[in-house]
Amino acid sequence: MDLRTYQRHIKNHLGAELYQHSLGVAETAAALAVRYRGDKRRAYLAGLLHDYGKGYSRSALGQKAGEMGLCLDRVSLREKGLLHAPVGAALLPLELGVTDPAVLGAVACHTTGRPGMSLLEKIVYLADLIEPGRDFEGVEQLREMASTDLDRALLAAVDGTIQRVIQRGLLLHPRSVLFRNSLLGILRGNGG
Ligand SMILES: [Fe+2]
Ligand SMILES: [Fe+2]
Repeated sequence: MDLRTYQRHIKNHLGAELYQHSLGVAETAAALAVRYRGDKRRAYLAGLLHDYGKGYSRSALGQKAGEMGLCLDRVSLREKGLLHAPVGAALLPLELGVTDPAVLGAVACHTTGRPGMSLLEKIVYLADLIEPGRDFEGVEQLREMASTDLDRALLAAVDGTIQRVIQRGLLLHPRSVLFRNSLLGILRGNGG
């Protein structure tokens, strides 16, 4: 499938607003891939597809996860904002024929992050937060940091996400904590 065909699918599947967000993430991810010498096409595709799961209601996602035999943790199952990432990644091979494990991995961990993320996974995680349609306090500094120091920008991004999760009284996924600690390890020079 070429990129245009994927774009058409995503537009029909997600609607105008989320499609616009997906395009923003795709373009931002592609630019970050150029900046950090990653794979530009893969980054664009992973960005475009990252919210595929959002084309389904929460109950449909739960049902599909059950049908596919996905083993999901309790936090992902209970927190509305998390389920679309792992279930979307599992649906993409079946529904759009996407089989590239690097792309699917980036889709699967774009909400929580995880320790030991690949460059592509880091790029998509960050692009989701700094694409041009995002507007929250500190986003400009995050965009600037993203162009100079990827891991430092990721740490600021995950810190901000964890703070928002706490302020909103949502469940905090333990993987986000592990991700944060691994970034601190990298930045302090004692490993991820
Ligand atoms: Fe998402
Ligand atoms: Fe997103």
